[in-house]
Amino acid sequence: MATRTSNRSNNSRSNETSGNRGGNRSRSNERSAFSWGDSGALVGAAIAGAAIAVAANLGRKAAMQGMSAAAGDWDEVLAAEHDMTMMIFDKLLATDDAQTFKRTMLVKKLTHALDKHAHEEEHVVYPALREANEAHDADLLEGEHGYVKTFLYDLNEMAKDSPEFLPKVREFRTLVAAHAQMEEEQVFPRLKQGLSEEQNARITTLVNKEGFKMA
Ligand SMILES: [Fe+2]
Ligand SMILES: [Fe+2]
Repeated sequence: MATRTSNRSNNSRSNETSGNRGGNRSRSNERSAFSWGDSGALVGAAIAGAAIAVAANLGRKAAMQGMSAAAGDWDEVLAAEHDMTMMIFDKLLATDDAQTFKRTMLVKKLTHALDKHAHEEEHVVYPALREANEAHDADLLEGEHGYVKTFLYDLNEMAKDSPEFLPKVREFRTLVAAHAQMEEEQVFPRLKQGLSEEQNARITTLVNKEGFKMA
């Protein structure tokens, strides 16, 4: 009896539940009927918002990449980026130990600039160097990029008011300046001279394309 009652009550609960479920379903259908309209509008607005955001981001990237792309051929684009990087180093070296926020922002900016630059070189220029039988230079330069990342890691991790901060930046700047000088004075001119106009134009296109991805 208890079992039957229990069963019954279970059944009854089950019926109630299923009744509720039915009710919920129908309410939910009603909600869906409305919400289709609502969520349709919301989805539409979200898509429009996302499209605006994507367009804004593409515009920002185009503007950022355009800044260096406007400089001309691939070697000029990369040399302009070297100059921009040196300017960030100099701003960092002009800070004092109390300017921790400014240092944090500048280290972020330096990290982004060098990541983007390394991406362009490692995905386009160094492969082209290896194809031109200059693998030794490509491997040496790519190895130095590894140390660039190590300096960036150290600077990002280091307390920005540390007395070691500026000596580390100075050491880092020396490495990047020597690396950039080797690229600009020896490696890039040699590669450029050995390539046809079309091949150089292709490298310029690819450098800008890779830069756009990282802008
Ligand atoms: Fe490099
Ligand atoms: Fe470079």
